[in-house]
Amino acid sequence: MNIVVTGGAGFIGSHFIKHILRKYSGYKILNIDKLTYAGNPENLEEAEDNPDYTFVKEDICSKRIIEKVVEGYDVIVNFAAESHVDRSIEEPEVFLKTDVMGTFNLLEICRTAGFKKYIQISTDETYGSAGGGETFSEESPLNPSNPYSASKAAADLLVLSYSKTYKLPVNIARSTNNYGPNQYPEKFIPLFVTNAIEDKPLPLYGDGKNVRDWLFVEDNCRGIDVILHKGIDGEIYNIAGENERENIFIAKKIIECLDKSEQLIKPVKDRPGHDRRYSISCGKIKGLGWKPEVSLEDGLRLTVDWYKTHPQWWKKIKSGEFLEYYKKHYK
Ligand SMILES: NC(=O)c1ccc[n+]([C@@H]2O[C@H](COP(=O)([O-])OP(=O)(O)OC[C@H]3O[C@@H](n4cnc5c(N)ncnc54)[C@H](O)[C@@H]3O)[C@@H](O)[C@H]2O)c1
Repeated sequence: MNIVVTGGAGFIGSHFIKHILRKYSGYKILNIDKLTYAGNPENLEEAEDNPDYTFVKEDICSKRIIEKVVEGYDVIVNFAAESHVDRSIEEPEVFLKTDVMGTFNLLEICRTAGFKKYIQISTDETYGSAGGGETFSEESPLNPSNPYSASKAAADLLVLSYSKTYKLPVNIARSTNNYGPNQYPEKFIPLFVTNAIEDKPLPLYGDGKNVRDWLFVEDNCRGIDVILHKGIDGEIYNIAGENERENIFIAKKIIECLDKSEQLIKPVKDRPGHDRRYSISCGKIKGLGWKPEVSLEDGLRLTVDWYKTHPQWWKKIKSGEFLEYYKKHYK
């Protein structure tokens, strides 16, 4: 299989590339990534010398260039996105450009070049906030709350329209919140872990009772792999961690893993439009033989240990040096 991975230098995409290269021999991977602030070539050091791996620094919105570089490939797995809710509230425009128009470009390329599969990496956030006891299935309506989730929902609808109108063989993977090594330290878990390591305050939104369902990143990658190989064309698959926890619970677990004081937890003003709870069912992908394998306890310990042992990875990001680093390396 010859797979184009877009956004493969980010958190989940880089784990997915490593997963595929470790598991399958003879698969070729082309990683197309614009290297925004969130893209980090260091995430893929392990793949750099692999003859089956190629990297191209490019924007998925540059259709003419992308359609040339993907010649000879038959599948696109699209991870490329602006992915941080807080940034989408401050600067929504780039979310529409990348998440919606970028997806549109890739769909057009797949349609005209006759790709065998297009997989859109989406999110449980497209369903919006779940009330107590409510759990969304793949059939539930989309009800996004912020510009990030709205841009992802718009992209999903476009993907489904290409399935219905052009019979493009597509799938959508909607996962819950991922966590694990190499996650950019603006996101909840790596922010709290790295702040706690440095004895800095852990800024907890509102009352800390917002609920997220935590999925270890490698479990998500195995789920996407299952969809790639067994997904039925046109279908959406939810990928859940089955670990719904209040944010305050996760904050205290991180403190416990690092043997720090709970005094570090500092309540801050809530995010506008903050979804209270995300909850999805994942029976459909379980029917294809997938289930989450890493417990929250094990996954959190592994993640905390990784940040403890890789300060060189996150310290330069948090100090702002990383931008200079990548400009020097990828002019
Ligand atoms: N992190 C989560 O918890 C989570 C949960 C569900 C779904 N998702 C989805 O998974 C995907 C990956 O998320 P992530 O956490 O790895 O994000 P990330 O922000 O770590 O990585 C995004 C990657 O996309 C690249 N990119 C951004 N704009 C681009 C463009 N215009 N052209 C090419 N590349 C571009 C960035 O350089 C970066 O490498 C996203 O689509 C996101 O919506 C994430």
